[in-house]
Amino acid sequence: MAQFKKIAVLTSGGDAPGMNAGVRAVARCAANKGIEVVGVIGGYRGLIYDEFTDLPAAFTANIIRRAGTALYTDRCLEFKTEEGMQKAIETCKKHGIEAVVAIGGDGTFRGANDLCLHGIPAIGIPATIDNDITATDYTIGFDTAQNTVIEALSYLHDTCESHARCNVVEIMGRDCGELTLKSGIAAGALAIVVPEVPFDEAAAIENIKKRKAAGQRGMLVAVSEGVVTADGKKYGEVLAKKIEEETGVETKFCRLAHFQRGGRPSARDRFTVSLMGEKAIDLLLEGKSNMFVCEIQGKIEAVDIKWGIAADRMYKGKLKDGDLDNFTEEQIDAMKALCARRTEEIGELYDLGLTLAKA
Ligand code: F6P
Repeated sequence: MAQFKKIAVLTSGGDAPGMNAGVRAVARCAANKGIEVVGVIGGYRGLIYDEFTDLPAAFTANIIRRAGTALYTDRCLEFKTEEGMQKAIETCKKHGIEAVVAIGGDGTFRGANDLCLHGIPAIGIPATIDNDITATDYTIGFDTAQNTVIEALSYLHDTCESHARCNVVEIMGRDCGELTLKSGIAAGALAIVVPEVPFDEAAAIENIKKRKAAGQRGMLVAVSEGVVTADGKKYGEVLAKKIEEETGVETKFCRLAHFQRGGRPSARDRFTVSLMGEKAIDLLLEGKSNMFVCEIQGKIEAVDIKWGIAADRMYKGKLKDGDLDNFTEEQIDAMKALCARRTEEIGELYDLGLTLAKA
């Protein structure tokens, strides 16, 4: 069993509901093993600029129900530079920080990987409303965001119904359509547009015409922010205009934007991140490093960060030369199998969305 006297926990990248519960789980599970835990303020930037906070029980008791991140966050470009990294390593040495638990998305994991390469063991916990980390079925914040989106869509549906309007709603998720797809299905959208699956615009417009003819008044269309036109325009706004022109149904456009990142974390997010926080500490004590915690088919597991990053690039079609050089055939096959599973899952969900939207 590995021994640690002191470790740090941080949140980095876009905030996600449940991050605070994750900080609490890490702090308390570590404290129960006799490890001192400090919180880094403002993600990796805090490591560079030596900004920390203690995490007494009274602090962690109060943050479990709060959205956002009480440790604050940042998308720190400086941490990507060798100079920034050296400063961060010096800070860790100065304070006797022997390992870091980093809560965030793919950028956060790349930072954790860099820390490990510079001799500081690190473990990641996936937290982003996008659910876009290929190696894990679930990222913390997704469930809360999905509930927030569904609530917003329901409000919009109410007013659309009164005025006989359509509302095209742009939903976050970067290049990942899962938040749009699942929220669209759950809110009863009659068309859903995501980056992963080609969209049949003509069929969707036909569906709206049919609905109108059948007397339907309120209509919703969910569009992922990652869908853009050939000339780089956000597709949601373009589609809203087209729907109005071609169907005669007055159509509004709404961008939910950062509204989706707020709100009290759901039971799912608080509970899952508590399990993940415990797992992160267990991994460190087992002497493991450069891994991130995952939920895979209902179980809390962990994968190697480098493997996870490569699998992510493979799924997103972003592999660069040399990315697979240090993996065995078996590891590459496992990545391919994972990508195939993700593609199948999203395809099946998309088909369900189409089936449920048919007039
Ligand atoms: O990754 C989470 C996310 O909310 C994405 O869905 C969105 O594209 C992005 O962050 C927005 O980033 P920022 O908060 O830096 O504007």
